[in-house]
Amino acid sequence: MATAIDAAADAHGLTARVWHELSLALRDRGHGWRTPVLATVDPEQQPQARTVVLRGVDAEKSQLRVFTDARSPKVAELRARPRAVLVFWSAALNWQLRATVDVTVLDQGTEVDAAWARVSPSAAARDYLTPVAPGQVLQGSAGGTAGQHHLAILLAQVQALDWLELGGQGEEHRRCRITPEGVERLVP
Ligand SMILES: Cc1cc2nc3c(=O)[nH]c(=O)nc-3n(C[C@H](O)[C@H](O)[C@H](O)COP(=O)(O)O)c2cc1C
Repeated sequence: MATAIDAAADAHGLTARVWHELSLALRDRGHGWRTPVLATVDPEQQPQARTVVLRGVDAEKSQLRVFTDARSPKVAELRARPRAVLVFWSAALNWQLRATVDVTVLDQGTEVDAAWARVSPSAAARDYLTPVAPGQVLQGSAGGTAGQHHLAILLAQVQALDWLELGGQGEEHRRCRITPEGVERLVP
């Protein structure tokens, strides 16, 4: 697989390639970037991190989307403190991507309705229908579903990307910081 970005001068090429890989990850279940880690800070100022599935990529708007249960602790964390980091790793590309994002929680409206219309026929629907909120202590069985769904969209506005390519044997690592102002080469 071709992974090389030929030169630092190819800054636009890198930005486009990174967003292209993100959009591939949306469709390809085997793509490492499909399941990033979302890191937040909780109300006790403690770091929190968990794996999520990438559900939307908009390169034009520099936005990423994740679905979650509106009752999950991460939602309250993000409402209180919208700044978060999504960390992606692809072993196939040897690329790590750290996206600094500001997250808006969408828990109602046409976009949520459209997302639910997509999810509701699938097995994943039950993730958003549990009668008790995620993270609560299990009392008896967690089974069953209640009528109302709790799907929420985490809309992540990308502020900066930190891209790192691990070089193979004898090759150098390469790192770039990508912001709306441009692309900077960094010491890896
Ligand atoms: C492969 C994988 C994918 C996951 N995808 C999601 C997801 O898209 N959305 C989500 O809310 N939780 C997802 N989870 C579960 C979260 O990692 C986490 O356990 C759960 O959301 C509770 O997080 P919280 O207590 O920090 O809110 C996934 C877990 C794994 C292992």
